[in-house]
Amino acid sequence: AAAQTSHDVEPTDLQTLREEAAGCRACPLWKDATQTVFGEGPAHAPLMLVGEQPGDKEDLAGHPFVGPAGQMLDRALEEAGIDRSKVYVTNAVKHFKFVARGKIRLHQKPATPEIKACRPWYERELAAVRPALVVAMGATAAQSVFGKITQVTKNRGQIVDLPDGPQAMITVHPSYLLRLPDAEAKAREYELFVKDLKVAAAALK
Ligand code: URA
Repeated sequence: AAAQTSHDVEPTDLQTLREEAAGCRACPLWKDATQTVFGEGPAHAPLMLVGEQPGDKEDLAGHPFVGPAGQMLDRALEEAGIDRSKVYVTNAVKHFKFVARGKIRLHQKPATPEIKACRPWYERELAAVRPALVVAMGATAAQSVFGKITQVTKNRGQIVDLPDGPQAMITVHPSYLLRLPDAEAKAREYELFVKDLKVAAAALK
């Protein structure tokens, strides 16, 4: 390989992207959020997981999926035989959107303009990491990954080829599992989530 000078490195290396994204003003969400929560993981991970947006804990920590949804995700990944340290984990929207209710910051679903404004970061992460497979967790992630509204329940667990890109799959978001009030439904849905992740793991073999 050619000798690298400081101006000769990949223009889209993750560190550069992370630094640029830290100052992103492409939508208003940066104003109330603590910081940009960029994706994390090996530079050329074969698997990329995409969530919705950082939650309260992630906003404070500056890392994706470190709160309750992250713990649920960690458990499911392990059960599916996927080592999280080998996965690149990111979100469709990189700032926490919330409304303050006293001391509590209540998660708000990102709107389409916010998802669209943030999509270039996902596209640049994709170009840098070049995973073989992207798993979109939930409808917001699916909107970014597929570039259009795509139903989760109808399409989950199926591997599809993206035009000029990696393979992709939709599954539910781990927060959805946390919100299910009924323990039986929760257990059943959790197993389906693990099953989808096993399909993803098998596709990488
Ligand atoms: N939910 C997400 O979608 N992403 C996170 O990083 C945490 C919770």
